[in-house]
Amino acid sequence: MRIFQAGSLAVALSVFTGATSASVFHNHTYDYIVVGGGPSGIISAEKFAQAGKKVLLLERGVGPTVATGNNETLLWNHSLTPIDLPGLSANIGSLDVWNQYMCTDTAGNAACVLGGGVTVNYMVFVHPPARDFDDKWPKGWKWKDVESAADRLYKRNPGTTLPSADGKRYDQGLYGVLSKFLGGLGWKSVDMIAEPNEKHQVYSHPSWNVQNQMRAGPVRTYLPDAAKLDNFHLALRTKVIRLVRSDSKVIGVEIQTASGRSEIITVAPHGRVVLAAGALSTPRLLWNSGIGANAQIETAKKSGVAVPPKAQWINLPVGVGLKDHPIFSIIFNTNASFGLVDYEGVLNGTDSRDISLYRNHSGVLTQGKHRMIFFTSEEIDGHTQYYQGSCAPTDEGVVTITTYMTHGLTSSGVLGLDASGKTVIEKSPYLQTAADRKAARTFIHKMVKEITAPSTGFELETYTNVSAILKSQTPGTHYTSTAKMGTDDGRKNGTSVVDTNTKVYGVDNLFIVDASIHPDLPTGNIQTAVMVVAEAAAAKILSN
Ligand SMILES: Cc1cc2nc3c(=O)[nH]c(=O)nc-3n(C[C@H](O)[C@H](O)[C@H](O)COP(=O)(O)OP(=O)(O)OC[C@H]3O[C@@H](n4cnc5c(N)ncnc54)[C@H](O)[C@@H]3O)c2cc1C
Ligand SMILES: *[C@@H]1O[C@H](CO)[C@@H](O)[C@H](O)[C@H]1NC(C)=O
Ligand SMILES: *[C@@H]1O[C@H](CO)[C@@H](O)[C@H](O)[C@H]1NC(C)=O
Ligand SMILES: *[C@@H]1O[C@H](CO)[C@@H](O)[C@H](O)[C@H]1NC(C)=O
Ligand SMILES: *[C@@H]1O[C@H](CO)[C@@H](O)[C@H](O)[C@H]1NC(C)=O
Ligand SMILES: *[C@@H]1O[C@H](CO)[C@@H](O)[C@H](O)[C@H]1NC(C)=O
Ligand SMILES: *[C@@H]1O[C@H](CO)[C@@H](O)[C@H](O)[C@H]1NC(C)=O
Ligand SMILES: *[C@@H]1O[C@H](CO)[C@@H](O)[C@H](O)[C@H]1NC(C)=O
Ligand SMILES: *[C@@H]1O[C@H](CO)[C@@H](O)[C@H](O)[C@H]1NC(C)=O
Repeated sequence: MRIFQAGSLAVALSVFTGATSASVFHNHTYDYIVVGGGPSGIISAEKFAQAGKKVLLLERGVGPTVATGNNETLLWNHSLTPIDLPGLSANIGSLDVWNQYMCTDTAGNAACVLGGGVTVNYMVFVHPPARDFDDKWPKGWKWKDVESAADRLYKRNPGTTLPSADGKRYDQGLYGVLSKFLGGLGWKSVDMIAEPNEKHQVYSHPSWNVQNQMRAGPVRTYLPDAAKLDNFHLALRTKVIRLVRSDSKVIGVEIQTASGRSEIITVAPHGRVVLAAGALSTPRLLWNSGIGANAQIETAKKSGVAVPPKAQWINLPVGVGLKDHPIFSIIFNTNASFGLVDYEGVLNGTDSRDISLYRNHSGVLTQGKHRMIFFTSEEIDGHTQYYQGSCAPTDEGVVTITTYMTHGLTSSGVLGLDASGKTVIEKSPYLQTAADRKAARTFIHKMVKEITAPSTGFELETYTNVSAILKSQTPGTHYTSTAKMGTDDGRKNGTSVVDTNTKVYGVDNLFIVDASIHPDLPTGNIQTAVMVVAEAAAAKILSN
């Protein structure tokens, strides 16, 4: 097997770095070219390869782990990079590599590295409840239809609430204080992995995307199995610019390598292309390929991309319907004694207590950022709105509840493109409807009242009243619905870009498997749902 990546590979991974000669692609014709090596791209590519198809996975970023060629390891363990260590995920935004990995050409935070968002995220792994699919997903995508895909995922990448090998939970001060507080309000304790459907007035130890005391996700739980197969190829630092079309067929994929050289990879006569570039980048690939509203395709042309002639444009509502979970920050002092992990000491090797525990596969460094996750819902004007609270210590005795509004939101926005080729928010997806604004106010009001009740001893910090908390709103980075799945064909005044086989309307051999196609937001953090959907989508694509 040819290995083009520098450094030693733990798995026999055939990786093209893009620094090698153009001709590496020439003597191959692929059954499947998958664009984007995030969670949905890796999972679907692995399924295609396991089915015996010849697969090329194209990823614009580098590999983030030693096995995928990275050599920026921890000082005290040369088989781990900082992103692998669960304990450092709490402070991940301050790592140099995090900043290197973030995309610079998307409308909100997205990661341009192998593993996509799952490589840079806080590892909160919420198994979706049945309702997330049963509510608004089309026929063929209800929970009974996707449950077996979820089981396949959970077998390989289950998540855990107890990652430390010694079976102990560490740093439980926050959990102690908040479980007493919420218990006092009548909420109950659940195991969010075992009881995914319990989402009203419940709290749990966090479910983290951790396995064998390392950040898990498809880079570790799917890619190595694909890499064992001769019919699977991965090219890193290879950015796809556009698809080359002949009317309703994709016949090539234009790529740009790290050195800036362009090349067109030919799609085999029977070949298929599967987009998995993420909800903020897949739309750009569509516009660059003459698929979407005329205005955006014109902008793509202005950005310098060789879009197809106008006669071949396919008018679909790409970017329309963008959704995300808004976040509100509730910060308060509990006067309890819990604090932060010594991130600097972990990085520079001086935190010998936590590091020696980790060498025994145990301790606080096996855990993620949060110490508790809660879920609840409110019935407002006959409509159910769900909320998630991800609770982490952010200072001595201080709790920050990252409060998400989740399933039940009615707002959507519009993603667009600018002339420099960046995706931009044309219309905000947040709190556009009176129902969503009322649901935000109702919940924050209730929480503030409970938190500031004299009996708690808690004191709000930074945002000290309801209106200040509402103004603290930030993006949830759980973007979806920019190439929505549905039965109402977008070419015929419908809202959908892909059909229920995830095939793009009007194109014979083009599919999308990433968060772009989700027609609705889940009840919790989204990565698990993204992985479930990719498992299910790959099966549909292979059987059609
Ligand atoms: C900072 C951050 C924190 C988050 N925290 C959490 C969390 O704690 N829990 C949770 O559940 N979710 C979290 N999320 C969301 C979650 O990570 C994403 O929803 C998920 O990764 C989306 O998967 P995807 O496959 O749709 O796309 P992405 O993960 O965006 O993957 C897309 C991939 O395609 C590649 N790509 C893009 N364009 C091209 C191109 N033109 N050519 C080649 N390759 C390309 C990218 O480099 C990337 O690897 C977070 C996201 C971010 C950004
Ligand atoms: C491609 O195939 C041709 C003919 O079989 C061979 O001469 C050439 O070296 C091959 N190129 C690569 C990069 O493998
Ligand atoms: C690490 O990898 C980079 C990129 O492949 C390479 O330039 C550098 O020489 C490597 N460093 C070491 C110490 O191997
Ligand atoms: C580095 O960490 C990994 C994962 O915990 C472990 O398997 C390995 O033994 C460690 N290596 C050293 C040298 O400590
Ligand atoms: C390592 O980090 C600690 C913080 O925990 C700091 O006090 C110390 O000076 C650092 N040591 C080195 C050698 O950088
Ligand atoms: C690690 O495990 C060994 C063997 O079980 C034990 O002797 C040692 O005390 C442990 N170290 C820590 C820091 O727990
Ligand atoms: C928290 O402790 C500080 C000093 O110990 C005290 O001044 C303050 O009143 C306490 N706050 C609450 C809410 O108990
Ligand atoms: C809420 O707090 C902000 C500052 O945090 C302050 O400017 C504002 O006046 C407060 N509003 C009310 C209603 O108290
Ligand atoms: C298109 O759909 C909208 C609502 O979805 C409807 O109001 C409009 O009449 C439709 N137009 C045509 C031409 O069908």
